Amino acid sequence: MFARIAHRYDLMNRLMTGGLDLRWRQQAIRACALPPDARALDVGAGTGDLAAEALRQRPGALVVGCDFTLPMMLRGRMKPGRERIQWVGGDALRLPFLDEGFDAVFSGFVMRNVADLDLAFREQARVVRPGGRVVCLEAIRPPRRWWAPFYRFYFHRVVPWIGAIVAGDRAAYTYLPQSVEAFFTLEELAHAMTRAGLILLEARTFMLGTVALVVGVKPSKR
Ligand SMILES: C[S@@+](CC[C@H](N)C(=O)[O-])C[C@H]1O[C@@H](n2cnc3c(N)ncnc32)[C@H](O)[C@@H]1O
Repeated sequence: MFARIAHRYDLMNRLMTGGLDLRWRQQAIRACALPPDARALDVGAGTGDLAAEALRQRPGALVVGCDFTLPMMLRGRMKPGRERIQWVGGDALRLPFLDEGFDAVFSGFVMRNVADLDLAFREQARVVRPGGRVVCLEAIRPPRRWWAPFYRFYFHRVVPWIGAIVAGDRAAYTYLPQSVEAFFTLEELAHAMTRAGLILLEARTFMLGTVALVVGVKPSKR
């Protein structure tokens, strides 16, 4: 599915969020607390928006983008300013990296799609160094509030329609709201991170509680 929509993926993100996703990405990378010469991993990097933001904030960093949808990474590689991302084909459930090699590991809008959320977080906890951060930016099941019907109308009716026109793929943008509704709340996502042995540092939401930023740290060794 991501291979089908790769050519319009970034544009759709800007349109669906009114460009707000760029701001969430900045905050997600800030939450990684990257040292100037950081080694960082973007899991499910897609076209590399988060990896590019990491390099913008830390030009001296080495940033690896890992994904199993090659057309997404190929699209990203064609975009200016992404020459310095190190692209790697790999599965988030079996990351092709040694233990504790990264100062920070982050993901954007990926964890909703993996077949085993706990395993994915365990893998991220494995490859980050003690004291390093794991940061997850993800769309979550929104809280039940008075505005929920408006949100559902936008997400279930308007978004598939924009997807059909802009990306030529209504099915992919019907899957999007469905996967969000089937996914976790902020609390559940935060618990999943702690089950992987990470200490929770921060869990907050954007856009009326529909997007979560969850930050964990790997405990230092005694
Ligand atoms: C919604 S896109 C997010 C892309 C990018 N992280 C962003 O912030 O825009 C989800 C990405 O996760 C990738 N993905 C999903 N499951 C994966 C897995 N098990 N291993 C590697 N990549 C995966 C997909 O190929 C896709 O590129």
